[in-house]
Amino acid sequence: MAITLGFDIYGTLIDPHGVTVKLSELIGDKAAEFSLTWRTKQLEYTFRRGLMRDYENFPVCTRNALDYADQVFKTNLSEDDKQALMDAYRVLPAYDDVPAALAKIRAAGFRMYGFSNGVAEAVSGLLEHAGISEYFDGVVSVDDVKTYKPNPDVYQHFVESTGSDKSNAWLVSSNPFDVQGAINYGMQAAWLHRFPDVVFDPWGIEPTIVIQDLVEIVERVK
Ligand code: LAC
Repeated sequence: MAITLGFDIYGTLIDPHGVTVKLSELIGDKAAEFSLTWRTKQLEYTFRRGLMRDYENFPVCTRNALDYADQVFKTNLSEDDKQALMDAYRVLPAYDDVPAALAKIRAAGFRMYGFSNGVAEAVSGLLEHAGISEYFDGVVSVDDVKTYKPNPDVYQHFVESTGSDKSNAWLVSSNPFDVQGAINYGMQAAWLHRFPDVVFDPWGIEPTIVIQDLVEIVERVK
């Protein structure tokens, strides 16, 4: 049976800090720090909503986190500014290495899915916009199960909806919490160590493999 790969989207294939271009126009040199707070809070809100069993979709978490960052940084963004930033989130760029790597992985015969906290329509739009949708068999979103990574239910949903099996389904993600979630559920997982400063959480739940470059999948995922 062919191996099924679930590619995390934000932070792995698509750069959430692509919003700093728009942010810089609006708030100048606070943009990079604002973007980090926005992203950190967005993820925290998904974790908290999952624990509270009070699901609202990823765009709601993103917007709530934007409102939070606006208050912390005292940036007084207008409703139009916030809408422009939310619009920018729908056309975020892929990391530079991604298109060529996906082409090679696809050519090696893997089944490939986007697998994200994001809603399916937004994820499909990002893959389209980045010119990489042709490499995917489909998109699986946590929105179907109304909770978030790293709840084991979402990894089970991935396996079931792709017709794969835990033993031959791999998550590919730069996000350590996502990798630990997949391993905890019983999938395989490749941690893409995209940023040298990111430390893998020392819990004793380790990735199946650590890769420095996406193309390593071709040789190392078996
Ligand atoms: C995603 C989050 C982890 O794309 O960024 O699922």
